[in-house]
Amino acid sequence: MVMTQIGVIGTGMLGYAICTRLLKSKLKVIVYNRTKSKALDLIDLGAKIVETPKEVALNSEIIFTVIKDASSVNAVSFGKNGIIYGNHKDLVVSDISTINPIDSIEIHKKFSKYNISMLDTPVMGGPKAAMNGELILMASGNKIIYKKYKNIFKRIAKQTFYLGKYGTSHLIKLSMNMQIAFLAISISEGMILAKKASIDPKRFLKILNSTYFKTGMSENKAYKMANNNFKPTFMLKNLKKDLNIIVSVARSFNLNLPITRKINSIYQNADHEGFGELDYTGIFSYLNKISNTSDKL
Ligand SMILES: NC(=O)c1ccc[n+]([C@@H]2O[C@H](COP(=O)([O-])OP(=O)(O)OC[C@H]3O[C@@H](n4cnc5c(N)ncnc54)[C@H](OP(=O)(O)O)[C@@H]3O)[C@@H](O)[C@H]2O)c1
Repeated sequence: MVMTQIGVIGTGMLGYAICTRLLKSKLKVIVYNRTKSKALDLIDLGAKIVETPKEVALNSEIIFTVIKDASSVNAVSFGKNGIIYGNHKDLVVSDISTINPIDSIEIHKKFSKYNISMLDTPVMGGPKAAMNGELILMASGNKIIYKKYKNIFKRIAKQTFYLGKYGTSHLIKLSMNMQIAFLAISISEGMILAKKASIDPKRFLKILNSTYFKTGMSENKAYKMANNNFKPTFMLKNLKKDLNIIVSVARSFNLNLPITRKINSIYQNADHEGFGELDYTGIFSYLNKISNTSDKL
């Protein structure tokens, strides 16, 4: 049996972890990153690093794009030396990036003109989950193609959900990120109040985690927040990008999501004030700043 050749475009925090997982699963991986130096360490794990998305396409059967936003997906797909210039029979693009569903449908239509199949495959879970093959992958698009590559998706994801027509999985992924954004703020404001009452935020978390209202975030990442550890696994500026998309999509659907709009403006301000390169949980640090509470108890 010929081994599936997998292309990965984008070795940021998530893409790098996905490459590592695929390579450790003994798959053949061809990699492109705009900033080549960030991909070079993958050579030691067996990756082939190439100079253009076109070369990735020429050498792979399925390509994962794991990049910032819709405009970068457009750039690597249709720009100079983009994926379409390496087109061949049965080429599939599986876009893991979180992008606007409306843009995704447009990108899918553009690929169709070249007979390239595209699936939306955004994921939940960060670099650590990717390294352990524990992402949650939400797919929409052609179901036959999804089924054909489900085994490859299972190398990086412990669960995969097929959600139907193009764009749907991005909408669901954005709704998931909405939960992340709300939770990070709710935990932050809870810890700020606790500090005002001279209660250690970790004690606040211990009480919260003994109740029905605990979450994965309150049980894990929140302790890093309480320790002012905001080393990024998913940057605040990227969550801000997703909230912006949600607000714009909601507007185009005539939906009124008042809390999302408010939360969005808080993350926009935090990014504007220089917190964008922190982990998204750095929203705690920003809220401490605007509440005039110190990061420490
Ligand atoms: N990190 C997570 O936990 C997580 C989880 C689920 C989904 N996501 C989504 O996955 C995507 C990547 O996230 P990340 O955390 O890996 O972000 P990141 O660390 O900021 O990496 C961004 C990647 O996009 C590339 N890129 C940006 N603009 C580009 C352009 N114009 N042309 C080509 N490449 C471009 C960057 O290349 P350079 O290295 O050259 O800058 C880099 O490879 C985002 O859509 C994010 O929302 C992330």
